[in-house]
Amino acid sequence: MTFRAHILGAAAGGGLPQWNCGCENCNLARRGDIPAQTQSSVAFTANDRDWAILNASPDIRDQLARTPALHPTDLRRLPLQSVLLTNGDIDHIAGLLTLREQQPFTLFATADIHQTLADNPIFAALNPAFVTRRIIALGESVEIASGLTATLFAVPGKVPLYLEGATVQTDLMGEQTVGVRLQADGKDAYYIPGCAAFPADLADRLHGAAAVFFDGTLWQDDEMVTAGLSLKTGKRMGHMSMSGPDGSMAAFDGLDVGRRIYVHMNNTNPVLRPTSDQRRIAEDAGWTIGQDGMEITL
Ligand code: MLT
Ligand code: MN
Ligand code: ZN
Repeated sequence: MTFRAHILGAAAGGGLPQWNCGCENCNLARRGDIPAQTQSSVAFTANDRDWAILNASPDIRDQLARTPALHPTDLRRLPLQSVLLTNGDIDHIAGLLTLREQQPFTLFATADIHQTLADNPIFAALNPAFVTRRIIALGESVEIASGLTATLFAVPGKVPLYLEGATVQTDLMGEQTVGVRLQADGKDAYYIPGCAAFPADLADRLHGAAAVFFDGTLWQDDEMVTAGLSLKTGKRMGHMSMSGPDGSMAAFDGLDVGRRIYVHMNNTNPVLRPTSDQRRIAEDAGWTIGQDGMEITL
């Protein structure tokens, strides 16, 4: 019995390199000078056999192919019991379309996220004879794989990009963006790949956790603007940054958390360069920079 996490994809939407991006990181990754990273997804097991995948990224086909623990054990059968979604963003749901070939699993999400899927008829490709869609209420605990329990809670966030209206509230608390508490073997881990701000009750919640996988989208809020790549700040995208007084490193400072691991890094984030100053600062502050294939035993 081992409670462990396997990072299938450590990058944010677009991955590293992103298909049409000529920034420094993307060029380095294209040349093989820094490790490439696929899009946001983490798999968890509590027994070394049965897995739950948290978020289904557009790269899930390759992610599964290179992860022996998630190879078929029989005809049409992967040791995958469920997929759980933390929001309706493309990088977290597009991979569902790959999982359409007669694999039984349960698809867990809030009612709001399930409604977004139901509103998109392409997801009818997931045959209900195999895929059971199950709503989880905030605060409700469910077993998502043998011996592994998940509980969802709201974190500040926004609706998916493709559902944004003329005005966008970027710190909505509700069913659009959730964090996940994972429990097995008497231990707690948290998975929070998108988080726009750090309310005091979130700090209270995380206190005592064995590990937290946290939103590492940007190093600083205006990073994409200063790189000339986008007009959007991290805040506008619903992501708090790593650095600065409002950043996640400051928010976790003094929290009793065993392992702190950044996931969902945007291609512009300097911590993706193993020799960058920012990487050293984050590691000195006790953070692990997640990367594809990394395993964390809890
Ligand atoms: C995000 O995390 O901000 C989204 O995945 C952005 C996107 O949809 O590309
Ligand atoms: Mn994303
Ligand atoms: Zn880039």
